[in-house]
Amino acid sequence: MAGQIPQRFIDDLLSRVDVVEVVGERVQLKKSGRNYSGLCPFHQEKSPSFTVSADKQFYHCFGCGAHGSALRFLMEYDKLPFPEAVEQLAGRLGLEVPREGVDDPRAREREKKRDQGVNLLELAARFYRERMAMQEGQAAHAYLDQRGLSPEVVKTYGVGYAPAGWDALKKHLSERGVSEAVQIEYGLLIHHESSGRTYDRFRDRVMFPIRDLRGRTIAFGGRVLGDAKPKYLNSPETPVFHKGRELYGLYEARQAPEKLEQLVLVEGYMDVVALAQFGIRNAVATLGTATTEDHLRRLFRMVSRVVFCFDGDRAGRQAASRALETVMPQMIDGREARFLFLPEGDDPDDLVRREGAQAFKDRVTCAMPLSEFLFEQAAQGRDLNAVEGRERFASQVLAALSKVPEGMLRSLLFEELSRRSGLKEAQLNALLQQQEARRLPAAGQPASSATPESEPAQTAAAPLSGARRRGVLSSIERVIQLLLHEPTLVDVVDESLEWLPDDEEGSLCRELIVLLRAGRFRSPQVVLAHFQGSTQGQWLTSLAQQELLMPREARKAEVEGIIEHLQQAQRKRSPEQEYAALIDQERAGKSWTVSSASALRS
Ligand code: UTP
Ligand code: MN
Repeated sequence: MAGQIPQRFIDDLLSRVDVVEVVGERVQLKKSGRNYSGLCPFHQEKSPSFTVSADKQFYHCFGCGAHGSALRFLMEYDKLPFPEAVEQLAGRLGLEVPREGVDDPRAREREKKRDQGVNLLELAARFYRERMAMQEGQAAHAYLDQRGLSPEVVKTYGVGYAPAGWDALKKHLSERGVSEAVQIEYGLLIHHESSGRTYDRFRDRVMFPIRDLRGRTIAFGGRVLGDAKPKYLNSPETPVFHKGRELYGLYEARQAPEKLEQLVLVEGYMDVVALAQFGIRNAVATLGTATTEDHLRRLFRMVSRVVFCFDGDRAGRQAASRALETVMPQMIDGREARFLFLPEGDDPDDLVRREGAQAFKDRVTCAMPLSEFLFEQAAQGRDLNAVEGRERFASQVLAALSKVPEGMLRSLLFEELSRRSGLKEAQLNALLQQQEARRLPAAGQPASSATPESEPAQTAAAPLSGARRRGVLSSIERVIQLLLHEPTLVDVVDESLEWLPDDEEGSLCRELIVLLRAGRFRSPQVVLAHFQGSTQGQWLTSLAQQELLMPREARKAEVEGIIEHLQQAQRKRSPEQEYAALIDQERAGKSWTVSSASALRS
């Protein structure tokens, strides 16, 4: 029996999906100010009173009062029962839905422990802040002073001080009944294996609490006062802290009184705090790791523009390339990413102090658009005056471009590439096809995993995988692919589906067309979700993953062309085939007319 879905999973899920995306796949939305609006799908109306809020992550209709989260929307709009709606959302993120009994004592224990953990970290944060104000925090105070941090900003960010010595925090927490095991689990206490001793992880450091979106402390970063190593020490991964997801300063940025329109991603704690002191409250930092997809998903859920800040040196450029790779798949329409390269050796902290807030803001405003950075990178080390150089350049951009979701940005990049490379769009398409053919053995794999050999068994067993391995799609597969990429193309398909063969791909194509005609499936993701978990789903996914990169009009023409071709082929059966079909028909005792195309197929 399927057990209860833990509330924590649902909370987590809702914090990771974007209601604007979910609703936007089913209702046409227009951006208006901070929100999106459109015609309410829950009642008849002529002017839009339905709004979706990206920062609040809910939808609301002023006309009929419909209201809720992404989950509620799926339940109401797709008429899904609760567990299925959760499955759907989880599927989008590739997550397994955990189940547990309501009265599962272990589950309750886990919940309790999480609360305990957060409380414990809050306790520690308060302890560090208090110590900062005391005599022993003098040096830390002086250090922050010397770094030019004001008492206000120190307060806003809750900066504190971990005293020198080995067990100040341990004592403090132990007196309050927190076991050492728990202190170790949450990264405050270190257990020395060989001696069996335990001691405070953070000693004689300035402490930056890392907070979740509700402002609760979930981890720390601590800086030495001098030049000792390591300069920064972060909490380890704990039940409540995952470096790959958290961003320093996000809570504080959201708390800022100004409207949050863009977020500036910087490298360090000090950068965030220094910028805040200069009135730039929208900077956040990753925590000593590269930017992950999860980071970006969080950022884009709050703002539509993200500006990445990098040092102008080689390492900085490299980090920027990696960020570019990570951000491209998330560049759906309406989002913007820019790259700000700082003068070599400068970080935002240095720069804002030297140049002032306005100059830094100007740099942010003028940061390099994603497209520019992409082209610049591809051009590097290539002679664009030579044909080969231009072709390599184009190939590199195309390879990158195929990671960008369909939409404005991709079309623009494609056009711009044609302009810059001097290659016609048809030539670019040919190049692209070559690339796809080379990539095909890996079809069915997520784009990020680069192990073409490890094709999942299910994909290998999927029908026609042989054809895909050869790098050729059958006409029917191509139709499926085009329909997946652009479900509205179903409108150009004739009412009669006689042209479809009676094999596996024919029946999959038929099923897809019937589904699309029934409506409700206006985006590839939703179609794929329908087939998820089946062999057909795998097959469809691999088709959907191959990018089309062709203008809309051409797609329509291609679908029409293929169908017409198949219809003709059917009319033009060889005399032998016709004869065989005729015999079959007679055996089956049915009457025979030459014009009945359907009778020919069996
Ligand atoms: P930097 O060394 O560039 O620090 O590390 P910074 O922000 O300029 O620090 P200040 O100005 O000297 O105080 C940038 C970020 O890399 C991580 C931290 O997150 C830091 O903010 N880092 C750096 C570590 O985690 N550990 C280290 O030892 C150093
Ligand atoms: Mn610095």
